[in-house]
Amino acid sequence: MTKLGKFFSLLLAGLLVAVPALPQSEEDLDKAMKLVGKTMGELRKANEAKDEAGLKAGGKVLVEQFTLGGKFFASHKMADAVEMNGKTLAAAKALADGSGTMAAVGSTCKGCHDMYREKLADGSYKLKMTH
Ligand code: HEC
Repeated sequence: MTKLGKFFSLLLAGLLVAVPALPQSEEDLDKAMKLVGKTMGELRKANEAKDEAGLKAGGKVLVEQFTLGGKFFASHKMADAVEMNGKTLAAAKALADGSGTMAAVGSTCKGCHDMYREKLADGSYKLKMTH
């Protein structure tokens, strides 16, 4: 392949990776949060076992899910949620690259839940819109 051809195929591949479908429905957020909850359970075990590879792998999953979450909140113009989401994302990134801790990630969840998460009578959760 020519240099230029290679450049464009790399560019195209990059675009495909960089533009996943925008999660704008509540269902997408719900799915992301369920995976986050499951991953936190796995991280807790990895943390107890001092399993560094497991901590990094879980951190990576969280980075993906909170990247999606950030898009959801941005598309719904929830600026404060975007900010809280960003803190979680930053903590997840640190965990994924081995410089952070699980506790730092876990400390960022409650603020947003207090504000934007509502528990329904059947025990499930949904997004609470405050405006
Ligand atoms: C910026 C806001 C925000 C942050 C940060 C956030 N969440 Fe959530 N979370 C929500 C909202 C909104 C819901 C309710 C949406 C839904 O489940 O439909 C939710 C729901 C959940 C649920 C319930 C899913 C279900 O329906 O069973 C779990 C579990 C969860 N979050 C875990 C976490 C954990 C763990 C963290 C921190 C690592 C976290 N979340 C950080 C906003 C946030």
